[in-house]
Amino acid sequence: MPDLMMIDRVSLAFGGIAALSEVSVAVAEGRVTAIIGPNGAGKTSLFNVISGFYRARAGAVTFAGKDILALPGYVRSKLGIARTFQNVALFDGMSVLENIKLGAHAQLGANVFSAGIYLFWEQREEHDLTRRIERDVLAFLDLTDVSDRPIGGLPYGLQKRVELARALVMRPRLLMLDEPFAGMNTPEKVRMANTIRRCVTEWGTTVLLIDHDMEMVMGLSDHVVVLNFGRLIAAGEPDAVRRHSGVIDAYLGAA
Ligand SMILES: Nc1ncnc2c1ncn2[C@@H]1O[C@H](COP(=O)(O)OP(=O)(O)OP(=O)(O)O)[C@@H](O)[C@H]1O
Ligand SMILES: [Mg+2]
Repeated sequence: MPDLMMIDRVSLAFGGIAALSEVSVAVAEGRVTAIIGPNGAGKTSLFNVISGFYRARAGAVTFAGKDILALPGYVRSKLGIARTFQNVALFDGMSVLENIKLGAHAQLGANVFSAGIYLFWEQREEHDLTRRIERDVLAFLDLTDVSDRPIGGLPYGLQKRVELARALVMRPRLLMLDEPFAGMNTPEKVRMANTIRRCVTEWGTTVLLIDHDMEMVMGLSDHVVVLNFGRLIAAGEPDAVRRHSGVIDAYLGAA
């Protein structure tokens, strides 16, 4: 498989603290790549560099052959990069459907929210967008029955599925998931894993995911990358990484 994204020697610092030190990762198209590592290893920071929330101090990220680090975040989402967040980031008072729709608005850039353009866009596109979400995303994620319910009262596992739906609205080429299994019970985890797998097999989505649940990560991934203190310490197939002594040490040290 060719690589959809190449992360090349990316470094990031906060003040004097190095959050990432020359991290390189190749993300193969149509595969699941996992990033693991102890708390504070730099996993979320790497996602933030890719999506444009943080500016790397050095290095390059190439997506579909384009150098993306100079591009604003909304342009990166237009190119097909979508993500979820480590903590559920949904609007409690809004319905499931309204929250999912925001995934489409994210691609339009900040200025679209200036009233005139937004209303113009809204009239023309809102109807089509709703139809498309109902047909593709709600059905795919089994959210049709709750689409009008406010987010606030829904179980946590379901909220995580809504976040995934929001990331999937524009059918991204790359789906980045920051701890999709965190806080879930086992049935919810199994369901989430199946959904992620179906994104890959049915939609051809490339997945980059972070999680601490080794069983889920190892079962789902084709390739696993391990960070520790901002450095890449191992990368390879799940079985090889699981047996890697440096990885075992990193986790024992963290525990
Ligand atoms: N906005 C920020 N300002 C200052 N330091 C930050 C910021 N974001 C992250 N860091 C620091 O960068 C390092 C890496 O943090 P990061 O959130 O990327 O870790 P992580 O691997 O995602 O950890 P976890 O598994 O706990 O989510 C940590 O030392 C963290 O304190
Ligand atoms: Mg994190």
